[in-house]
Amino acid sequence: MDFNIKSGSPEKQRSACVIVGIFSSRLLSHPAKAIDKASKQYLSTVIRRGDMDGDKGQYLLLHNVPGVIADRVLLIGCGKEREVNDRNYREIIGNSISALNKTGALEGINYLSELNIKGRDLNWRIKQAVEIVEHTLYQFNELKSKNKKPRRPLRKITFTVPTRRELSKCETAIKYACAIANGVKLARDLANYPSNICTPSYLAKQAIKLGKNQNSLNINVLEETDMEKLGMGSLLSVSQGSSTPAKLITLEYKASKKSQKPIVIIGKGVTFDTGGISIKPSQAMDEMKYDMCGAASVMGTISAVAELGLPVNIVGIIPATENMPSGEATKPGDIFTSMSGQTVEVLNTDAEGRLILCDAITYSKKYNPEVVIDIATLTGACVVALGKHATGLLSNHNPLARELINAGEESGDRAWQLPLWDEYQQQLNSPFADIANIGGRDAGTITAACFLSRFAEKLQWAHLDIAGTAWLSGNKKGATGRPVSLLMQYILNKIK
Ligand code: BES
Ligand code: MN
Ligand code: ZN
Repeated sequence: MDFNIKSGSPEKQRSACVIVGIFSSRLLSHPAKAIDKASKQYLSTVIRRGDMDGDKGQYLLLHNVPGVIADRVLLIGCGKEREVNDRNYREIIGNSISALNKTGALEGINYLSELNIKGRDLNWRIKQAVEIVEHTLYQFNELKSKNKKPRRPLRKITFTVPTRRELSKCETAIKYACAIANGVKLARDLANYPSNICTPSYLAKQAIKLGKNQNSLNINVLEETDMEKLGMGSLLSVSQGSSTPAKLITLEYKASKKSQKPIVIIGKGVTFDTGGISIKPSQAMDEMKYDMCGAASVMGTISAVAELGLPVNIVGIIPATENMPSGEATKPGDIFTSMSGQTVEVLNTDAEGRLILCDAITYSKKYNPEVVIDIATLTGACVVALGKHATGLLSNHNPLARELINAGEESGDRAWQLPLWDEYQQQLNSPFADIANIGGRDAGTITAACFLSRFAEKLQWAHLDIAGTAWLSGNKKGATGRPVSLLMQYILNKIK
């Protein structure tokens, strides 16, 4: 999509469609008033007839509005003017793009970027708007044999600013937002590919492809033999049941001083989670192709950082494997030695995410990281606790947790913290090994994080459980690309 910024009166725009807001009940926004005036009260007459109250979700498409140069005027319901907040703004922009996309227009000028939102500047509004446009128009048609491309695709969206002096600042906002949107799209695409295509080797290939386009990016892929040498018994206990080999992918991006310790992001890359011998019920099991969304978000984030050439050092680590039942698979009660030297009793082979992440966390220590953040579709319990709206956040370092929460608020990709108190640790006691891989029914998300914390030890570490947020089910089934926006905001805030 081509994005532009402009200022000027709506009635004078030569465009296929001008988009303006109506507040409830039947109140015109400033740009709508300008059109109303130029059209000799055409808008207010139409609205008085009762076709448009301005409630959120409503829209009305008008053609050949007198006194207006544009072919169409699209009225978008914004709800009560006082109630336009972060969430409503995103929804309104999304609605305007869906509505525009249903028309024959190939481009449009959108005045909704001029809506006032408490505590949010123009920069924020433009950045959000661009990300939402890309999010709304996203489709995954790669694997359809027909109708891959929309018939009349939108090509260009112009957002407006009240005065000319704000133009240049907004160009930067667009640049950042486009890179983030590309990262989100990459994450969504990778996640939406089914597990027969998106295997650990496929993820490795895609990482290598990313590295080819970027000099500052160095990709490395460890094979199972390398992992054996490193003593990654925990990771290998998951992959041993699968005929598809595991890969440990690292993406090293260096654009800051050598002495600057890197931010390490680790993404769970289970390309399919059957549960292993502790096999899952078959209902909705197809969605376990999404068990690599953490890995996808790492790829998306690193790709966006590289596209922007941000002055940071950041390392992505992706442990990638399938979790399958077979004659070679791990059986409940089996005990393995992790790379850290700690022994793990695998009481449930479906708690595999933590088994691959713990070795990746230990491995990350070789980078002497400033912080380590792991991202994983780790627990069904997180979906029970927080639903599809918030990512679960657990951390052994409160300032880091704060920074991630703030980045979530700002980007609209929010996380909510759960406690990581010592009291929960005892649920992981094992009579035969140093630690068990499950902690019983209570507080499943917390005990999963407790398990990881035993390996993070002194690292400044945070864990993002994206089990609820990484994809949607039902008729909107598909990957969301979360938490790429959160991670990008976190990184951008760090270098500000
Ligand atoms: N990948 C799943 C978690 C999951 C389940 C994410 C459903 C999203 C939706 C993970 O590997 C898993 O199976 N976790 C188990 C842990 C349990 C055995 C302690 C779970 O949540 O049931
Ligand atoms: Mn599992
Ligand atoms: Zn899993």
